[in-house]
Amino acid sequence: MDKIFDLIKKEEKQQKELVYLIPSENFISDNVKAALGSCLSNKYAEGYVGKRYYQGNKIIDEIENLCQERALKTFGLDENIWGVNVQPHSGCEANLAVYNALLEPGDKIMSMYLPDGGHLSHGWQTEKRKITLVSKIYEVEFYKVNFKTQVFDYDEIKRQAQKFKPKLIISGGTAYPREIDYEKMEQIAKEVGAYYLADVSHEAGLIAAGVLNGPFKFADVVTMTTHKTLRGPRGAMIFAKEDLVDSINKSVFPGLQGGPHIHTIAALAVALGESQTKEFKKYARQVVKNAQVLAKVLIDEGLKIISGGTDKHLVLIDVGLGNGKRVAEKLEDNGIIVNANTIPFEQSSPFKPSGIRIGTPAMTTRGWKEDDFEKIGKKISELI
Ligand SMILES: Cc1ncc(COP(=O)(O)O)c(C=O)c1O
Repeated sequence: MDKIFDLIKKEEKQQKELVYLIPSENFISDNVKAALGSCLSNKYAEGYVGKRYYQGNKIIDEIENLCQERALKTFGLDENIWGVNVQPHSGCEANLAVYNALLEPGDKIMSMYLPDGGHLSHGWQTEKRKITLVSKIYEVEFYKVNFKTQVFDYDEIKRQAQKFKPKLIISGGTAYPREIDYEKMEQIAKEVGAYYLADVSHEAGLIAAGVLNGPFKFADVVTMTTHKTLRGPRGAMIFAKEDLVDSINKSVFPGLQGGPHIHTIAALAVALGESQTKEFKKYARQVVKNAQVLAKVLIDEGLKIISGGTDKHLVLIDVGLGNGKRVAEKLEDNGIIVNANTIPFEQSSPFKPSGIRIGTPAMTTRGWKEDDFEKIGKKISELI
């Protein structure tokens, strides 16, 4: 037997034994896993449904069609108003495809600041260095949370947008524990004549279940990864208003990618089917309840929680200047998997950040309830 299978077995055992609290991780179902490991991985299908560059794709067309239908249904979208591309290989590529479709090189993007919870793929750069390809192609400026409240001040974002005049405004991120006011973001974008992209990678499953508000009434384009709260395979989707769909599709293929991963698209279709069940809605509600209990316990234990709580599936703790990595390693030594994260107005570096980020999606899939999170919250504070 190939040594790789020994390693997979070891990893499988570990995933059953440790406590996984990284907000962007989850445990897929056996059906999602079966589709991922299926013969669909053998097939090349460059192009789109009914317009492939390779033969032998009639069944593949049915699979991609079904996935698109389920994606629109999951988010309650009218196919006359919205289209969806299910081919992006990852969230970063989905976002890049949107920029490539809507912008010209040199155009301006305004997005959420990384240390305040933004994402790399929204054009991360520092004052000294253009780190991402996006920041090299486009002119990027970031908006930040308010120093006192640690949440967004939409009037301030508006003033900044009026001055900077971006062609694209992006909301969404990886560590912002509060709901985003999509309506206000749309108003700001409209006022300055910008497109509005809502990246709901983290919140997708919670929006699908109706536990959080969605951006679909307000955004021109919505991107999301499929493997976090949505509990599907690793991948991404781009939802776009009908008039933008064609350019988005061309931007994904042939603009950026070659053959779509049909096994992933099939697995996504399975996950989207699961997301429409009563059990999933119950799961999503429990994810948020668990995060709110966790935040309360941590606060009661005297820890500093960014923004004073959470509206969703994650909690960000300020563990003191540059202590994030040390705390994350200490927790790992005790079987608890979290990640070190920057916090708003971070005074240390991304390699030695001052926070840790804790999420409830994975362990809620494992069946954890409020009392489990109360216990783990107490243990985490003890270890900190
Ligand atoms: C908000 C957001 N956008 C994009 C991505 C990128 O996704 P991927 O890792 O699939 O490229 C992530 C992943 O963490 C994310 O949180």
